[in-house]
Parts: sequence; C-alpha cells; structure tokens
Amino acid sequence: MESLTVSNSTLAHWVGPPRRRRAHRATILASGSAVPPLVVGNEFFVQELGLNTSCQWIEERTGIRERRHAAPEVQASDIAADAARCAIERAGLTPQDIELIIVATSTPDYIMPSTACLVQQKLGARQAIAFDIVNACSGFAYALDCAARYLATEVEHAVVIGVDLGSRLVNFADRGTCIFFGDGAGAVVLGAKGQGRILATALFSSGDAESLSVPIGGAMSMDGRAIWTFATRVLPQTVRHLCADAGVTVDQIKLLVPHQANVNIIATSAAELGIPLERVAINIERYGNTLAASLPLALDEALQAGRAGPGDLVALVGFGAGLAWGGVLLEL
Ligand code: UT7
Repeated sequence: MESLTVSNSTLAHWVGPPRRRRAHRATILASGSAVPPLVVGNEFFVQELGLNTSCQWIEERTGIRERRHAAPEVQASDIAADAARCAIERAGLTPQDIELIIVATSTPDYIMPSTACLVQQKLGARQAIAFDIVNACSGFAYALDCAARYLATEVEHAVVIGVDLGSRLVNFADRGTCIFFGDGAGAVVLGAKGQGRILATALFSSGDAESLSVPIGGAMSMDGRAIWTFATRVLPQTVRHLCADAGVTVDQIKLLVPHQANVNIIATSAAELGIPLERVAINIERYGNTLAASLPLALDEALQAGRAGPGDLVALVGFGAGLAWGGVLLEL
C-alpha cells in the first residue's frame, strides 16, 4: 500500500456528515477492566531488543513508560471475559441477566467464531446474542453506539467490551510501531433503566485506509505524522459535534476520555478545546495504546477513582485505522 498523503483539502472532507443519535435511554451501570500481569518498560526495546531508540525518546514523544504484554497462551477472549465479569459483578448482575454482548477488537482469537461468542461461553451468558465489531481504535465507540440502539428497543442489559492484544500486531524490529502498543480489556454494562443517559453519539469514517493498517498474518505499518495530523484534528472536532448535538458546552464536560494513542495528541487536543488536563483521563503512561481497549480501560480507571459520578457528563472519543473515529457523550 502507498502511504497516505494528507492535505488540508482532504482533511476538510473528514468533517462529516456523521451518523448521529441523540438521547438514548441506555445508562452505564458499571465498568470493569483487565490487563495481563507482565509489565514491559521502555528499556525492553533498548536493552533487550537493541532497537535504535531510547527510553527518553519514547517517553517524551509518546508519554508511554510501560505497557502490558499477554503471555503466548492468553487470547483476547480471556481478558475480555475477565473485564466483563468484573463489570457484571459491579453492576450487581449475573451473566444470565445479559442479553447482548458486543466485543470491539482487532485481535480476535479466531477468524470465526467471533470473540464475543467465546466471551459468552466463558461467562456462561447463554441467552445473550453476541457479535464483534472490528473498527480498530474507534471500535469501542462504535460498539457503544450499536448497543445503545438495541437498548432503545428490546434489550435490558448489554455488555460492551473493548479488547486488544496490540503486542501481536507489531514487528518488534520496527521502532516506529512496536513501542506504542500494549494489551488489555475494558468493559461496561449498559442498562435500559437507570439514572444516566447517552446524550449523543457521533461516528465518522473516511476510507483512508493506507496510513494505518495490519494485513492478515502481517505486521502493522503506520504513517505516524499522518495519524498525528488526523488525530489532533478529529479529537476536538468530535467533542464539539457531541456537545452541539446534546445542546451542552465543552465546559460542562466533567471528564474527557480520549483514545490513549499519544499523550501529546491528548494534550494538544485538550488545549484546543480549553479543557484542563485535570478533566482528562490519561493512563497511557502505564498501558500504552491498547487500541479498542483504550477507551473502556481509561473510563474504568477514572470511574473507580471517583473522577466522575452521577449526573456528570463524560465524553469518550476514539480514532484510528480506517480512518474511523467517533465519540459518545454520557450523562452518568
Ligand atoms: O491509534 C493511533 C496510533 N498511532 C498514533 O497515535 C501515532 C501518531 N503519531 C505520533 O504519535 C507521532 O507522529 C510519532 C510519535 C510517531 C512521531 O513523533 P514526532 O514528534 O512526530 O516525531 P517526528 O515526526 O519529528 O520524528 C519522526 C522521526 C522519524 O525519523 P526521521 O524520518 O525523521 O529520521 C522516525 O524514524 O522519529 C523516528 N522514530 C523514532 N526514533 C526513536 C520513530 N519511532 C522512533 C523511536 N525511537 N521509537
């Protein structure tokens, strides 16, 4: 594939139109997460792999200090099921209460069956319907939007999971990609009844596939600068779309949960929006970029830390390969 050339005129087309929805009755009842125990610090790439990089470069340019790598026998469905179990228990429910399981992942256990069906088996949630969404780092936002549409009609309880084993997608000889990605899972339980609401969702995709891709059986190629330009453009844009749709101001957002791709992307975008970093969920220093897991992992950590509570507005924004991006504005 040729690498993508990003021009300002191309970027102008990325503005819309999005697939938007307003005010779903779906509410987040609880969240959970799971990461593999092996911590891989930046020194691994310098000392053990002998790459032409440095701990200082990695930390300054990306904000990442360490990430998790799953053991070879661990599959996405294992940590996805752990995250889901945690969220279901915190919601005070049992797997038998769950009618819908959606897994967002780009690292499925198998081509078929879906990872969601494997999670269903591991949970024993036999009466649920289960399927995957493949949309890279924006997959969790797409999955939340999708689940909210089911909750608007026949489903009472759904589990939405973002899981990825990013360490399986990279060539460990490529310093431009392997330092970024880590493994993890996050999950939320959504209920049709409860205090909160989904105020707005906004999904976008541009079909610019070349700048970030992983061929089947191959390793990731990434045009870092093109992704940087794209990300710093669409992250603030998506937040503004969500706020406009919901009739709220950016100032009213209690917590912004952005995709954890690069701390400098997050800081640049937050500054453009006028959101101080105290109102932004950031955990990239400990987990790196976990693709579809990034949003629910950061959301779960922030909720457990009490950084947002009932009645607060929380904006989640994912972006990545596709190019595809999207956001969800929640009232907790
Ligand atoms: O889910 C989305 C995932 N992708 C991203 O979020 C990537 C977004 N892009 C970025 O985060 C940044 O563009 C990078 C961190 C990839 C690059 O940072 P930068 O501050 O934009 O660096 P730069 O463009 O000024 O420099 C890039 C240079 C290249 O060398 P040349 O071509 O200028 O000689 C790379 O080869 O940095 C080099 N480089 C590295 N050097 C040391 C790339 N990776 C490394 C590395 N260590 N690990």
